[in-house]
Formats: sequence, structure tokens, C-alpha cells
Amino acid sequence: MRIGVLTGGGDCPGLNAVIRAVVRKGVENYGHEFVGFRDGWKGPLDGDAMTLDVAATRGILPRGGTILGSSRTNPIKVEGGIERIEQNLSTLGVDGLIAIGGEDTLGVATQLAEHGLRVVGVPKTIDNDLNATDYTFGFDTAVQIAVEAIDRLHTTAESHHRVLIVEVMGRHAGWIALHSGLAGGANVILIPERPFVIDEVCDYIEKRFARHYAPIVVVAEGAQPAEGTMELQAAELDAFGHVRLGGIGQVLEREIQARTGFESRQTVLGHVQRGGTPTAFDRVLATRFGLHAIDAMNDGETGVMVALRGTEIERVPLTAATSELKLVPIERYEEVEVFFG
Ligand code: F6P
Repeated sequence: MRIGVLTGGGDCPGLNAVIRAVVRKGVENYGHEFVGFRDGWKGPLDGDAMTLDVAATRGILPRGGTILGSSRTNPIKVEGGIERIEQNLSTLGVDGLIAIGGEDTLGVATQLAEHGLRVVGVPKTIDNDLNATDYTFGFDTAVQIAVEAIDRLHTTAESHHRVLIVEVMGRHAGWIALHSGLAGGANVILIPERPFVIDEVCDYIEKRFARHYAPIVVVAEGAQPAEGTMELQAAELDAFGHVRLGGIGQVLEREIQARTGFESRQTVLGHVQRGGTPTAFDRVLATRFGLHAIDAMNDGETGVMVALRGTEIERVPLTAATSELKLVPIERYEEVEVFFG
């Protein structure tokens, strides 16, 4: 077979490990050929392809980012987008596609599979919010980066008796905030799934100072105040209709300082969480996903996504992966509340 590979949506550490595993097993064990599509769905849409062989994937296991490039191009929004993809795949002699991506990229993969294209999905996102898999690669690395930052912020917060607010990624799901806040000993964790009440946050902060410790507030970028408690400004939308987030840390900095009188400073970790080398856990998970994705394609089982269930990699229908997001269950959040304040 001649198989196309693409990486779409926000990049994350481990994408290259998947590409390497797909190509290595596909060439060595099955004798397939590969084509790399550049920049997510933009590649098949424009017929923009590159050579992808064993030599091209050598040495990329520890490298962050993606050698194929990525984008948030949504071909469904482009007039005749699906037909253009079908045409380009046929011109390039591509029999099947391995799409590595999150909710949006796999949503497109699902629609293409419904059109009869042979597609196998590989879940990725630092947000860990894809429903059908217990973990996505990239998440462990992002959490590790955030924890390192929180550890450093503790010492400077103590020296200056300041409130330090750390804004982490997570637009709908607060997994990064929950895990990094728990592992980093945050004083308060705010996640999108549980609207916060600013007065409660300030109470936790005052309680912490009363015990002679400086508080760290970990907030997911998508966290929202409970209705009627604080005003937030509207933000821009991207090609998938998502709000471009960022800014809740700044709002909290202002509000906390005004309400408690304690000097407050925010740190936005932003894309630092998506950059650099993957942790060993993410390298292993990404590699296993890649190996199982090429197996599925080779077996002719398409329209599926590989998923981690416990310690096993399974094949699940693509539709299951994108039908709903995996949010933080409220009991998981309540579990850590004992550490607040
Ligand atoms: O989906 C991954 C993610 O990193 C989210 O956590 C974040 O909201 C978004 O991507 C940021 O997207 P961009 O890099 O396009 O600004």
C-alpha cells in the first residue's frame, strides 16, 4: 500500500515518535510506502506531499513538534474540500491515510471515512480530552513542564509574599490544571468544568497567607467565573469556531489584588507546554499508538482510532473518539479540594 500520514491541529510532543513508528513498522514488516502530507489537512487539500521513508524518520524520536508541520485548516469548511482531497489522494496513488490529531482533525477523519476513504486515527492532544482513550500523548509532557514551573514559582512567591497565578492550557477540560496543580502543590486549582466564585478563591488565598505560606493559583485557560460573579470580555474565533483563549490569569491577577490587597502576579505558560522533547511516558505511548495504527491499516480495519484502555492499545470507531469530550469528572476535582486554602 501507499499510505499518507498527516499531523493536524495544535502540535504536541510525541508526534514525531508516532510518525517514526508508523513508517518503521510499515516499511520493515509490511513493505508499505509512505507519503507525508504537510501542515495537517492543508496537505491533502493542496496535494502538498513529501517523501516519508525510514531515512526521513531517523533521529526524530526525542524531537518535539512534527516533521510534517501542522495547521488548523478545516477542509470541510472549504468549498469542494472533500472532493479535492479525494482527487489529490488518487493522483498521488495514496490508498489510505493515517491522521494524527485531536478532536478537530479526527472529526474531519471521521467525515472522510464516511465518504469511503480508508482512514486510521491516532489521538493526540496535550489537553487529554479525547473521550475514547484513557490518555493522549503530549499530556504527560505538558503536565511535567507545568509542574517544573510551579515548583519554581513557589520559591519566588514565598520570598515576596505574593500570590502567583499560573495559567495553563485547557480550553474545555481542566486535566492539565488538575494534574499539575495537584503534583505542584497548588493552593487553588480552577478548571473549566467547575465555574469558580472569586470570593471563595480570595478566601483560600487569605487562609494561606494566614499560615505564612504564599499561594499558587493554577488556572486552566478555559476556566470561567460562576454566572453573575465576574465579567469576562468576549474573544476571537478560529477556523473551527473555537474561542482564542488566554487572559483569565490576567483577570485573576487584577481581581485578587483588588479584593485581598495582596500583590498578585500571573505567569502564562502558553505554548511552552507544547514544545520540546516528550517525556519517556509520551514517547512510549506515541510509539505504541504508531505501531498499532499501521497494524490496523495493514489489516484493512479503517474508520477506527487507536486508543489506550488501561495498559492495552485497542481499536475504537472514529465516531466514538469525537462524539463527546472527556472532561474532568466533578468527583476528581472534589478529591483535591482538601488541599485548597
Ligand atoms: O488543543 C491543544 C491546545 O494547546 C489547547 O490547550 C489550546 O487552547 C489551543 O491548543 C491553543 O491553540 P493555538 O496554538 O492554535 O493558539
